[in-house]
Amino acid sequence: MKQDRILVTGAGGQIGQVLCQALAVRHGASNILATDIRAIPSWQGAFARLDVLDAPSLTELTREWGATQIYHLAAILSAAGEKDPLRTWQINMDGFLHVMETALQLSVSRVFHPSSIAAFGAGIDLDRAGQHVPLIPATVYGITKVAGENWSYYYHQRYGLDIRSLRYPGIVGHQSDPGGGTTDYAVDIYHYAVQGKPFRCFLAEDTRLPMIYMDDAIRATLALMDAPAGNIRVRTSYNLGGMDFSPEEIAASIRKEIPGFEITYAPDHRQQIAAGWPRRIDDSAAREDWGWKPEFDLDAMTRDMIRHLSLRYSPQPQS
Ligand SMILES: NC(=O)c1ccc[n+]([C@@H]2O[C@H](COP(=O)([O-])OP(=O)(O)OC[C@H]3O[C@@H](n4cnc5c(N)ncnc54)[C@H](O)[C@@H]3O)[C@@H](O)[C@H]2O)c1
Repeated sequence: MKQDRILVTGAGGQIGQVLCQALAVRHGASNILATDIRAIPSWQGAFARLDVLDAPSLTELTREWGATQIYHLAAILSAAGEKDPLRTWQINMDGFLHVMETALQLSVSRVFHPSSIAAFGAGIDLDRAGQHVPLIPATVYGITKVAGENWSYYYHQRYGLDIRSLRYPGIVGHQSDPGGGTTDYAVDIYHYAVQGKPFRCFLAEDTRLPMIYMDDAIRATLALMDAPAGNIRVRTSYNLGGMDFSPEEIAASIRKEIPGFEITYAPDHRQQIAAGWPRRIDDSAAREDWGWKPEFDLDAMTRDMIRHLSLRYSPQPQS
């Protein structure tokens, strides 16, 4: 079988840094080209500076690399996106259209483009967001995700492009910093806890949101991309579940490991975004079509996060 050659956009972000390492294990580091508008200190492999708004450079790099797969992660996230809605639309949509046009032109065999729980909004049961429901988001980021899902469907139906997508919940990981989303608190909280600092949460204590541990999110991404094309029955984007919890529940989970941990609540503009998002996700289509099953629940994630971050923050021995 021909060796895949992979190009990743937005590879310096929270997911990209971890995904590139996983792709390197899967396909060989010499077959992964990480691209971003900023340098990626954690990445030792091939790197190219690439702005996804620069369509000719994107196409040229893809051609030169001989890419057979593109993971398109470059985006502006939910909270950051509200600062400049038109710019967010431009980066998230134009960038994505450039990727799909490049993929068509160069016969790239598979494309991955994440959607988000931010695609959901008004008019649905937020306690169990279904796979096929109205998508009426309240943020520009959510609007770009809904449009992206529809474009994916269109390119697949019309041109046969094998483009695959997951509606990621909030992603929690120790490896990288989050990039301006509404669920970032669930990463930051562990950094404070491990350093023995009190944490001020920007969401209210009972704000339940769907989340997933980074290891599960990466595993799901690779499983989706590895699945036979015939199994991929959802060509907009698959709901993906991991766990769901509120700030008070994650704090309680942390206190099982760090009993003195303190949290206060000061909800800001992100509270309103979170209030419009689902609290739980129905991911039965992903389970049925390509065997999705998360491994981490809240307490397992807490133990793993604290173990890794404790190593990072512990004083280094003097040499
Ligand atoms: N992290 C999450 O919790 C989460 C949840 C749902 C969906 N997603 C989706 O996953 C993808 C990756 O998210 P992330 O958390 O890694 O985001 P991030 O903000 O951490 O990283 C995005 C990367 O894109 C780069 N970028 C921004 N503008 C660019 C441009 N014009 N050209 C090239 N690169 C550019 C940034 O430098 C950054 O490194 C996004 O599509 C996001 O919407 C993430």
